Amino acid sequence: MIYQIVSYLKFLRRSTNQHGVHSPFVYELITECFYDKSHHPEYKLLKQHRKLLRNDHESIEVTDFGAGSRVFRSNQRKISAIAKTAGVRKKRQQLLFRLVQFLKPTSILELGTSLGISSFSMSIAAKDAIITSVEGCAQTANTAKKYLEKFQVENVDLQNTEFNTFLADDKSEYDFIYVDGNHNKVATLAIFERLSSKVHNNSIIIFDDIYWSREMTEAWNEIVARPEVTVSIDTFQWGLVFFRKEQVKEHFIIRV
Ligand SMILES: C[S@@+](CC[C@H](N)C(=O)[O-])C[C@H]1O[C@@H](n2cnc3c(N)ncnc32)[C@H](O)[C@@H]1O
Repeated sequence: MIYQIVSYLKFLRRSTNQHGVHSPFVYELITECFYDKSHHPEYKLLKQHRKLLRNDHESIEVTDFGAGSRVFRSNQRKISAIAKTAGVRKKRQQLLFRLVQFLKPTSILELGTSLGISSFSMSIAAKDAIITSVEGCAQTANTAKKYLEKFQVENVDLQNTEFNTFLADDKSEYDFIYVDGNHNKVATLAIFERLSSKVHNNSIIIFDDIYWSREMTEAWNEIVARPEVTVSIDTFQWGLVFFRKEQVKEHFIIRV
């Protein structure tokens, strides 16, 4: 926690807004997507979905994957509590929606579905896209599926398996990848390695929780330094990387 607070203070000192950003691509992304303050009608649906999950007090048996939970001691957990602690928060859920609308991907991969709060946001932002979302915990995945069905979501292909198993078998290429699970250095770098063959010039990968721990930040810094990564954007909670060969390598620290 102390690491996160100190990192955030440093981030506030070093981060900027669109001013001084010379890359037209990044400038547009910041002004038209990050800072788009208009009220999208779809936000209402996002709220309804989130609210239903937050009001579901049934318990499920959770199998812990990745870095484990800092919040829960037992594996018997209320859906409402998982929605509050593991799910993407309102502001980021809306930003994810806008990013997908702005970048218009047709193939999306999400590692870490949990209850599907982020999957839902991407699914309504790109109704024609196929979203493959991977979740290791069977009961969590089933709950996500149940709620996505309640909202007639048909473009999310939920895979109940371990990330590594999925990545080893999967041969697809993706336009948009959201990595939100297994927040540790070794796993994150291994995931990046696996994803390298699944991206193209216009793909984006978003890594959640890059300041979750010192090790996660180390993983993020190593990813930023990779030669195939040209544009990288640190927004504190998320690290975004692009592979656009037409762009000189540049790192941005942006307040969202
Ligand atoms: C932070 S939650 C995802 C939240 C979700 N993206 C949202 O915003 O609603 C991370 C999820 O990833 C899953 N997970 C973590 N490591 C995994 C692994 N190695 N294989 C499969 N699932 C994993 C966990 O079970 C957990 O449900």
